[in-house]
Amino acid sequence: MKIKSEAKDVAAYKGDVLIVNLFEGVAKPGGATGAIDAALGGAVSKLIKRGEFKGRKEETAVLPGGGKIGAERVVLVGLGKKEAFGADAARLAASVSINKAKAMKAVRIGTVAHGAGAGGLSPEQSGRAIAEGAILGGYGFDKYISTKKGKDGDAVEVTILIKEKADAIAAGRGLRTGVIMAESANLARDMVNEPPNVLTPGELAARAKSISRSSGLKIKVFGKSEIVKMKMGAFLGVARGSHDSPVFIEMKYEGNPKSEKNLALIGKGITFDSGGISLKPSNSMEDMKSDMSGAAAVICAMRAIAALRPKINVTALVPAIDNMPGGNAQKVGDIVRAMNGKTIEVLNTDAEGRLILSDAVCYAAKKKMSPIIDVATLTGACIVALGTLRTGLFSTNDELAAAISAAGEACGERMWRMPTDEEYKELLKSDIADMKNVGGRNGGAITGALFIESFADGAPWAHLDIAGTSFMDKKDRYYKKGATGVGARTLAQLAVDMATR
Ligand code: BES
Ligand code: ZN
Ligand code: ZN
Repeated sequence: MKIKSEAKDVAAYKGDVLIVNLFEGVAKPGGATGAIDAALGGAVSKLIKRGEFKGRKEETAVLPGGGKIGAERVVLVGLGKKEAFGADAARLAASVSINKAKAMKAVRIGTVAHGAGAGGLSPEQSGRAIAEGAILGGYGFDKYISTKKGKDGDAVEVTILIKEKADAIAAGRGLRTGVIMAESANLARDMVNEPPNVLTPGELAARAKSISRSSGLKIKVFGKSEIVKMKMGAFLGVARGSHDSPVFIEMKYEGNPKSEKNLALIGKGITFDSGGISLKPSNSMEDMKSDMSGAAAVICAMRAIAALRPKINVTALVPAIDNMPGGNAQKVGDIVRAMNGKTIEVLNTDAEGRLILSDAVCYAAKKKMSPIIDVATLTGACIVALGTLRTGLFSTNDELAAAISAAGEACGERMWRMPTDEEYKELLKSDIADMKNVGGRNGGAITGALFIESFADGAPWAHLDIAGTSFMDKKDRYYKKGATGVGARTLAQLAVDMATR
C-alpha cells in the first residue's frame, strides 16, 4: 500500500473510491462530506434522513459517484460521537473505510483527512492517524496458509485529500511518521504471530540483527556462556528447562552521543511459556507463543526510533528463552541468585518473566541506564484487572508515568496507572532467601511489577504489563485476531517526546 497527501478538492478526485465521513447525529453534513452530498444531489442527507446511516463508529455506506464527481464510488464512514472523537477514532475510521474500499477491489482510494477541521485534529495528526489506521488495519498474517489468494493490497494507493497546500504538506509529514510507526508495529506483530517452533530465541536474535543492520543500530547478542559469565542466575534458572539456548540481546541507538543519559527499554522474551514444572493447563498455553510480545515491542520500537532519529540515546535489552519443563528444569523451591547478588526462592516456575527481567534490569542499572522501562506479558492478574483495552502502567516515578501515559494516549495505546505502594513488597518476603518470586493471588500484577522494581537500584523505573493488550482472541478495533504490536509505537513516541523535552 502506498499513502500520500495532495492538495485537491474531494469532488475532483479521480479514483475508484472516495472516502468521506460523518459524525454521529449530524443531520446535515458540512465540509467535504457536505460538498459531496451537494454534488450527488443530496444522496448523503437522504441516507441520514431515512435512518440508513447514523455515523456510528465502524459504520459504512456505499454510494455510486454516477459521473457527478471524479470518483467511481463513495464510501461514507462513521466517526462516532463528536465529543468522543480523537486521533484513535480517526485511526479506526481510516482502517474501516480503507478495508471496505479494498474489499470493493478499489486500487485508487482518496480519503478526506478525518478530524482535521471539525474534529479538532491538526492536518499532521490526521495524516498520521490515517496512515496508522490504514497500515495497522490492513495487517494480516497468512504466510502459512497454502491457499491464500495472493497479496492484493500492494497496488493500493491511498491519497489524503486536503484543500490547502500547506495543510497537505503537514498531513504528509504526519503520514510519514505514521507509516514508520505502523510498519514497526506490524513487524512486531509478525514476530509474535510466528509459531514458537519458528520464533525461537535464536530466530528472535536474527530478526533483531536484521533490523539493526537495515536501521544502522549497534547490536550485540550474548550467548549462554556470556550470560553465565555475567552471573545472570535468575535468567539461567528459567533457561534450564529448555533444550534451546538462551540469548541476551542488546541493541543501541545513539541519537545524542554527547549525553550520558540512556533510556533502557527491556522486553520479556519468553518465546513460549509452558509454565515450566509449574505446568500450565493446556488451554492456558494456547497463546503462549505471544509471551515474547514485550521483546517484539522493544526491538521494533528501536526500528521506529532509528527511522525517526530523536536526539536521545536508547538501548533495548531482551533476555530470550522458552519456559519449558525439561528434565533439567528448575524445581519449585529452587533458590537462584540474580546478577546483583540477590537470592530468589522460586515458588512457581510459571512466574518466569520477572526472573529473566530481573537480570536484564540489573544489567541496565549496572550500566547506569536511566530511566529503565520494562515491557512484559507478565500476569494474568493484569488481564483480570484491566481487560484487553488498557495496558497496566506501574512506576514509582510520577513524571515518567505521566510521560509514558501521554505517549500511549497519542498512539491509541491506552494505559492505566496501577499502585506501587512499598507495603505490597511484604508479600514477596521469603523465609529462606532475599525474596520469593510470587506474592499470591491478591494484587498479582502489582507484586509482579514490584518484584522487577527491586532490581532497578533506585533508577527511575516503569513497567508495562501488556498481558491483556498484546494478543487479541478476536477482531478488536483496527486489530485482527492475534498480535497487536502494542508498545512498539508508544515507546518510539516516548523517545521522541523525551528528546524534545
Ligand atoms: N506469561 C504469563 C502471563 C500471561 C497470562 C500472559 C495470560 C498472557 C496471558 C506469566 O508468565 C505467568 O504465567 N504468570 C503467572 C504468575 C503467577 C504464577 C504468579 C500468572 O499470571 O498466572
Ligand atoms: Zn509464566
Ligand atoms: Zn510468561
